Amino acid sequence: MEAAFTGADIFVIPAGIPRKPGMTRDDLFKINAGIVQGLIEGVAKYAPKAFILVISNPVNSTVPIAAEVLKRAGVFDPKKLFGVTTLDVVRAETFVAAITGESNPAKTKIPVIGGHSGETIVPLFSQAEPAVTIPADKLDALVNRIQFGGDEVVKAKDGAGSATLSMAYAGFRFAEKLIRAVKGEKGLVEPSFVYLPGVSGGDAIAKIVGSDFFSVPIELGPGGAEKAIDVVSAANDYEKKLLEACYTGLGGNISKGVEFVQNPPPK
Ligand code: 2OP
Repeated sequence: MEAAFTGADIFVIPAGIPRKPGMTRDDLFKINAGIVQGLIEGVAKYAPKAFILVISNPVNSTVPIAAEVLKRAGVFDPKKLFGVTTLDVVRAETFVAAITGESNPAKTKIPVIGGHSGETIVPLFSQAEPAVTIPADKLDALVNRIQFGGDEVVKAKDGAGSATLSMAYAGFRFAEKLIRAVKGEKGLVEPSFVYLPGVSGGDAIAKIVGSDFFSVPIELGPGGAEKAIDVVSAANDYEKKLLEACYTGLGGNISKGVEFVQNPPPK
């Protein structure tokens, strides 16, 4: 790790085992938690100022693990730690484009917030830019497909893993945006799962959602996460219901990650 990590500016971490049909992302915890912990210990030691993009599942728990490891090493900068939830945004854009007929899905910005698994994934169509109209009879199925699109891929691959190519695209899209922002480009915003109290504007959002870790649109800049943007307050009644389900699931995922570092299981 010393040779590989020293001098690195950015880490993109997809390491770990993927799901098999019937598994949730949480079922990966036992193995992937330790892998992420070990890698972050290396980052803390050899490249403590680097940006860290966590893809390894379950993201809802592996990002809190990373934060806890970095805190313990005394090098935690919340502006530099990101859980990559871009694939949820890509799925939302793609499935919405199939409904609206827009030929370039990425032209419609749809905030997808919360976490990165099942019901913790919350698309906010009410805040799409430009505005979109989803027919009422298509809404539930659309939300379900965004929340469980990863499961669809796992099923289709039938034991051979989970989404890889779309995840690679999503990881690239986020990493590339961050690099552009670090180099000075302005106005770059992408949702990401971050430690809100450490990001400007995040404290107020953490109080509304009742969680320190949460994905919201993040304005990226030279320091990383420059600002967390509150899209939660303007959610409509349908989205508020989705958010309630998200809060219920997310809390347990986060404390499981924190607990793993604070009270390690016997080896
Ligand atoms: C997905 O959403 C692998 O978690 C990734 O498909």
